[in-house]
Amino acid sequence: FGMEMDHHAKLVIKGGNAFVPPANIRLPVGQPLRALPRLANQTKEAGVFKAKLVAAPATLELVRGHKTQAWAYNGQLPGPAIEIAAGSRVEIEFENHLPQATTVHWHGLPVPADQDGSPHDAVQPGGSRLYQFTLPADFSGTFWYHPHPHDDTAEQVFRGLAGAFVVRDPKDPLAHLPEQWLLISDLRLDKSAQIPANTLADWADGREGQFVLINGQWRPAVAMAPGSLNRIRIWNACSARYLRLALPGARLFVVGTDGGLIAAPYEVREWLLAPAQRVELLIEMPMAAKGNKLTLLAEPYKRGRMATPEQKRALPLADVVLTGEKVATPAMPEKLREIPPLPEPTSSKRIVFSEEMGEVRSPKDFGFLINSKRYEHDRIDFVSVVGETELWEVINGSNMDHPFHLHGVQFQVVATVRQGDAISPPFLSWQDTINVAHAERVRLKVRQDHPGLRMLHCHILEHESLGMMANLMVNAAPTPA
Ligand code: C2O
Ligand code: CU
Ligand code: CU
Repeated sequence: FGMEMDHHAKLVIKGGNAFVPPANIRLPVGQPLRALPRLANQTKEAGVFKAKLVAAPATLELVRGHKTQAWAYNGQLPGPAIEIAAGSRVEIEFENHLPQATTVHWHGLPVPADQDGSPHDAVQPGGSRLYQFTLPADFSGTFWYHPHPHDDTAEQVFRGLAGAFVVRDPKDPLAHLPEQWLLISDLRLDKSAQIPANTLADWADGREGQFVLINGQWRPAVAMAPGSLNRIRIWNACSARYLRLALPGARLFVVGTDGGLIAAPYEVREWLLAPAQRVELLIEMPMAAKGNKLTLLAEPYKRGRMATPEQKRALPLADVVLTGEKVATPAMPEKLREIPPLPEPTSSKRIVFSEEMGEVRSPKDFGFLINSKRYEHDRIDFVSVVGETELWEVINGSNMDHPFHLHGVQFQVVATVRQGDAISPPFLSWQDTINVAHAERVRLKVRQDHPGLRMLHCHILEHESLGMMANLMVNAAPTPA
């Protein structure tokens, strides 16, 4: 909406102080980080994970003396974390007690298309269904689950529905390290501590809350021993917030992305986690620090035309507190696992994100488009064939960044094209979400392993809900005659 800056500015003002909490609304700070509660396995059967998930309104005391109405899985914010071994069979009985249709989407997992919780398989209010799938034995990493109904995904997630899903490799080379999980989400509260609806500006830019939560806590204290090497999994479960993560005073190494470990640790000063992405970091703590703590920051990030004053400041997310005895730093593992590059592509696709705006009276007037079209439930936009490697070029023809996400597979980014220069990524990795910055194009290799209908979309959930989404039909490979 570049030419519409004035109009846009008015929308922001109309949205009020969406970024500043009312004076009476304060969440507790500095409390020890709670580990994400795990969803208990109801069976002892080897290799099987069975549980029940209920999506329902929940009353939570987030601010002392106030009752916040949220929507939650099993009454928890964030939802209970699912942790399973690679190759497991998963059976989840799901009940929808929300006033809207919903689904549970297993973000990043290669589940059959009819178990993927796509908008085509809605569970109506009062309804239930069984989600069941078996994961491949050689597939592990850091995933999540969230609702994915037609139209209402953004609202269901900002009201509180999202949870972590970790698949463990039995031969995990980092299993000896202390591990913590940080699921980052956004919360906005009004002066009666309720979660308000989106403003028009939220629909345009994606909603950001006043509170960035980690495991449901505001600015918690994360304990790590002086000198220790820590494995940290981080989820960006925010609707639209970009997290340029930094921890000044410690050394950071990327060891894993959306789809699990990379080949070898890669040292970084900071790491950009776009909405829906995950990263595994090794954090090497110093032996000592001023005040005995470091600060985990979200550094300023300008996503295209966007830059509210809040987005120009570094935002403290958590204190990382040096706790306990000094430990001798364990050696940095040299090799983590092999990532075989996907074969040479034999076909290609172009995906173009664009925006179009006429006069805006309601969110539906925003045009968030893929290949010039708004999402339509019953239109197949793209066709792929099981087993065929394709080169996709995802082009951002709009004025702001959009995180591209594809269901059903992990893909490999080959290059990012910026001002005509194709830049290779610093390491090969498995991704299901990749940021396509303003005026960039991202080239990726992808191969679908299951037939069926899949979604691709921008993971700024407001954009997805307003139509920056498309249907991909994956056809079975033709059987040789
Ligand atoms: Cu995490 Cu189609 O979504
Ligand atoms: Cu997904
Ligand atoms: Cu977008």
